[in-house]
Amino acid sequence: MLNYVHEIPTKLYFGEGQIRHLDEVLRPFGTRVLLTYGGGSIRKSGLYDTVMEILNKGGYTVTELSGIEPNPRIESVEKGVKLCKENNIDVILAVGGGSTIDCSKAIAAGVFYEGDDLWQMVATGHGVLKALPLVDILTLSATGSEYDGGGVITNLKTNEKIGNMYTFPAASICDPTYTFTVSKYQTAAGTADIMSHIFEGYFSRTEDSDLSDHIAEGVLKTAIKYLPVALENPEDYAARANLMAISSIACSGIPEYGKRGTGWPCHAIEHELSAYYDITHGVGLAILTPRWMRLILKKDPTCTWRFVRFAKNVWGLEGEDDNALALAGIEALEKFFKDSDIPMTLTELNIGEEHFEKMAAHANAGGYLKDSFVSMTNEDIVEILKACL
Ligand code: NZQ
Ligand code: ZN
Repeated sequence: MLNYVHEIPTKLYFGEGQIRHLDEVLRPFGTRVLLTYGGGSIRKSGLYDTVMEILNKGGYTVTELSGIEPNPRIESVEKGVKLCKENNIDVILAVGGGSTIDCSKAIAAGVFYEGDDLWQMVATGHGVLKALPLVDILTLSATGSEYDGGGVITNLKTNEKIGNMYTFPAASICDPTYTFTVSKYQTAAGTADIMSHIFEGYFSRTEDSDLSDHIAEGVLKTAIKYLPVALENPEDYAARANLMAISSIACSGIPEYGKRGTGWPCHAIEHELSAYYDITHGVGLAILTPRWMRLILKKDPTCTWRFVRFAKNVWGLEGEDDNALALAGIEALEKFFKDSDIPMTLTELNIGEEHFEKMAAHANAGGYLKDSFVSMTNEDIVEILKACL
């Protein structure tokens, strides 16, 4: 088990009705609020009205940035920074899914960025930055952006989607009832994202970090139990609550305590797909993951033991032949995604192989994935992408 240092400064308010804390959470930061949200789901659900009522009653001055895109664009970050500067904003209130929260994190940091080109802030490696305070109200269980410091911003002009550290939310209000309106497609995609955040740490060479492995397996089993329930009955509180709780923990770093880093290979490859084709992040991951698993299992049989553990502890499978058991675990995962009714090939998303080599070179720039669970070459990445067609 390796050494680790971990701090999450975000205060989570989890459960139905936690919005009653909104005023007390915002108040210490000031009264000029930038309210950020996406394409309108919060208006349809009525959450916008609830939030505005609290803000109006509290005497806040509200500036709005709406229309933040899924796979949020650098242009939205630029707009938000401009609004913050023009209106002397004290605090950002992000209401939405990972895209709205990520964009708001980059805005919060962008206000203090000294250069002229905010894309340089996104594209340059750095740690947590000086930023405006950020509070969020989560409406989609997926990314874990409500409980981490990272954000992912897209530049469609350069076909780049880049994750970086910006700032942690000061507080996140996680009320599962706000996810009752999430479509089946986004519910399944979000759960695939949560599961991928676990896979990216679980499939590591560190063998003796039992706590992390048990947490990881618990998160996966929770996803497997509750995704079908949420798809069947979108207003099942227990299902929505469990999915929301695992969303926050999966990307928090906790399931990776004491484990060797992997570079998160499926995320590195998926970000290329999104950067070129603007696809839903979780769908890209669901398509890639079983193909990545099969390739690494074939390439390096010394990793079979971990797939056997996955098959046994997560899927409850048994068998004498380790390779067959490992493959059965991967098949169970693929079937689970298929049963949730999301596309499971790139062809269904109208993606062909024309950019695969460029994508592989970008995802693996500087040999980024050479120290992964199983070392990955550009050729491996192209092979995985081709298997996804
Ligand atoms: O835009 P609106 O109208 O709000 O609709 C959204 C959007 O169309 C809709 N939605 C959200 N909450 C809803 C709802 N619809 C009905 N009812 C609700 N309660 O869902 C659609 C997708 O929203 P989005 O925010 O894009 O989804 P998600 O939370 O999956 O975020 C995806 C983004 O986060 C990044 C991804 O790469 C992608 O850009 N990630 C961020 C991470 C992080 N910060 O740590 C880690 C992840 O690995 C990921 O890369
Ligand atoms: Zn993800």
